[in-house]
Amino acid sequence: MSPTQNAWRTAELRARGIFTGRVLSNDSLCPEHYRIRIGLESFPPTRPGQFINIRCGGYRGRVPLLRRPFSLAGRRDASDGSVELDILYRVVGAGTAWLAGLETDAQIDLIGPLGNGFAIREDKPQAALVGGGTGIGPMIYLAEALAAAGRAVAAFAGARTASTMPLIEKQKETFAITTDDGSMGHAGMVHEAFSRWLDNEKPRPAELVVYACGPEAMMKAVADICTPDGIECQLAMERHMACGMGTCQGCAIKVKTDEPPGWMFKLVCKDGPVFDAEELVWE
Ligand SMILES: Cc1cc2nc3c(=O)[nH]c(=O)nc-3n(C[C@H](O)[C@H](O)[C@H](O)COP(=O)(O)OP(=O)(O)OC[C@H]3O[C@@H](n4cnc5c(N)ncnc54)[C@H](O)[C@@H]3O)c2cc1C
Ligand code: FES
Repeated sequence: MSPTQNAWRTAELRARGIFTGRVLSNDSLCPEHYRIRIGLESFPPTRPGQFINIRCGGYRGRVPLLRRPFSLAGRRDASDGSVELDILYRVVGAGTAWLAGLETDAQIDLIGPLGNGFAIREDKPQAALVGGGTGIGPMIYLAEALAAAGRAVAAFAGARTASTMPLIEKQKETFAITTDDGSMGHAGMVHEAFSRWLDNEKPRPAELVVYACGPEAMMKAVADICTPDGIECQLAMERHMACGMGTCQGCAIKVKTDEPPGWMFKLVCKDGPVFDAEELVWE
């Protein structure tokens, strides 16, 4: 972990807690994705790449025992201290189906903020963001944070097809869009669009930091583009999670070490979910 990330962890991470929020809106963005806006009386500081653990109710007789993790896709702070959090989510099972059924004003129980989040580099004026599927959510939040910090941002968003692209109209102006079938934006994979941008723009590697979140194959492809040129690349990894706080050891990920056997396990919930690409052992 970089010194910047470490400083953030020690200063801010202990501020997490259990909160009861209120659903402000819960909109279907496309046949697969929803965006929920949660209102809270207060919430600790957060950074893009961090996540919250939501207690989900049941759906058709299936009640998830464990909380479900979701990355922050946006945050707005009001002058009275109240906070709005956005989550962009895809319905895949009982927990997310329950979430999709929540109506405005419903109560929502969550723990957060969890994980380390992306580090915004003081020494790197340029950023490239690569998001795929639900991985676009944290990229929306990150694009806003980077723009506020005065960084030049090139952002790329990929989906299988136009009807599964979870961006709203306004956000489509921020992202260069790709779809596998060419039904929206450029045809092809999102990492290919990022690679073309690198070839055309030729940013200086030392001045660029790349952030990615999405399917693991996409993130490995982004890492494979960045690593040979010495471009810093931060990836938000995903594993199945139980506690989300480093207790159950259920979200292990292999990282490189100098000592034999050359690797060790870290925890995605506690040490991540954001890791430097060069640190990871891909399997
Ligand atoms: C750090 C982190 C951040 C996440 N952020 C988001 C987000 O912003 N938006 C979003 O839609 N989803 C996100 N996820 C995934 C989300 O947590 C799962 O989709 C959710 O827990 C599924 O719950 P469920 O009860 O609906 O489905 P379940 O019934 O639990 O599972 C349905 C299917 O999804 C698979 N699945 C469940 N969790 C995961 C996982 N973590 N990785 C891979 N496959 C999984 C299961 O194997 C099963 O096949 C994130 C996961 C992690 C670890
Ligand atoms: S989810 Fe329990 S240790 Fe990571």
